[in-house]
Amino acid sequence: MKNNFSKKFSLEDVVSISDFSRAQIEHILSQAQKIQKLSVSKKTQILKGKVVALLFFEPSTRTKLSFASAVQQLGGSVIGFDDISTTSLVKGESFTDTLKMVEGYADIVVIRHPLDGSARLAADTISKPVINAGDGRNQHPTQTLLDLFTIQESFKKIDGLKIGLCGDLKHYRPFHSLALALSCFKNITLYLVSPSHLDLPKTIREILAKSNNAFVEVTDLKKVLPELDVLYMGRIPKEYFAEDESFEQAKNFITVDKVLLESAKKNLKVMHPLPRVTEIAQEVDETEHALYFQQAANAIPVRQALLQELIKVKKHKPVNSLNLISEIQCTNKTCISHQESIEPKIHETVNQKLYCHYCGKLVE
Ligand code: CP
Repeated sequence: MKNNFSKKFSLEDVVSISDFSRAQIEHILSQAQKIQKLSVSKKTQILKGKVVALLFFEPSTRTKLSFASAVQQLGGSVIGFDDISTTSLVKGESFTDTLKMVEGYADIVVIRHPLDGSARLAADTISKPVINAGDGRNQHPTQTLLDLFTIQESFKKIDGLKIGLCGDLKHYRPFHSLALALSCFKNITLYLVSPSHLDLPKTIREILAKSNNAFVEVTDLKKVLPELDVLYMGRIPKEYFAEDESFEQAKNFITVDKVLLESAKKNLKVMHPLPRVTEIAQEVDETEHALYFQQAANAIPVRQALLQELIKVKKHKPVNSLNLISEIQCTNKTCISHQESIEPKIHETVNQKLYCHYCGKLVE
C-alpha cells in the first residue's frame, strides 16, 4: 500500500519501534534537525488548524508536556485528559468506544496506557494516526527516537558505540524500545546491566541475538563502566512489579555518583529518560557526563518531526486482512487483549513461532 506522504516515512501510526527501518529512523532524526532551524512563521504552518488528542491513562510529565508544547509550537491545538476519573470511562465506557469518540475530535491521537499492546489496539480501532506514548511494560518508541537523536547530536554517529543499559531491563519500556532500535545500527556493543531476575524479555533477546551486534550481560556496572560511551540508566518501575516480584530487593540496585564515574571514559555520556529516583545522584548533574536534561529537551524537535509526518497520513483499513489466529490467548498477563472484550490476535511466523499482534510478545 502506498501513502501520499513522504516516501522516506511510510508508517501510518507510531506504535512499535520495530515498525521502523533504519532509514525511517534516520529520516525522523534529520527532520528533527531541520525543524529546529525553521522560523516561527514556518513552524506554525505545519499543524495550523489541526487538533492533537493527548490521552494519558497513566501519569506523565515529560511526554505529555513535550507533546503539548510541540503541537502548540507547530500552530496546532491539543485536547485530552490525564486523569481518567474525569472521563466517562468511570461510567463504564470502554477503551475502544472512548477512542472512537476521540477519532471524531482530533487529527492525531497520542496515547499512554498501563497495558501492553494498548497502542496497537488503538491504532487498529481508529482511522486517525496513533502515537504510542508508552504502553505498559512494552514500548516507548518516541522516547527512543529522541534518545537516538541525543546520541547522534552528542557523538555525531550511532554506529560503533558501546552502550550500557542499566536498571530493570524486564519491566522498563524505554530499555525495550532502545535495545530494539539499536539492532538496526552497526557495530554496536550493548552492555545489559541488571539484577539477574530483571533481565530483558525473551522476545527482545531473540531479536538482539539475530542482529549483527554484540551484547554482554552483567549484574555489576563497575565491571563494564570503563568500556562505555553511553550509560543509559533507568528507573526501577515499582508500578510494574507483580505481587510475587520483589521490588524491595531491586529498588536500590545502583546509584551512579561521582566516585563511580571516576572509572568512566572522560567522554562518557549518562542518559536517562527520567524521572529518576535514586539511580543517578544529583551531584552528577554538574558533570560533563550528564546528558539527561538535554535528552528531555530534545523531545520537542523529535516529536515535532513525527507530528509533521503523521499529519499527512491517510490511513488504510487495518489488520482484518492479516492472517491472525483468534483461538489462542496471549500468554502475557499484562496484555490488553485480556482486559477488553476483544478477540485475541496471534500471528504465526514461518518457523511456527506465535506472537501476539497487540503486545508483540512471544506466546509460550
Ligand atoms: N520519559 C518519560 O516518559 O517521562 P514521563 O513519564 O514523565 O512522560
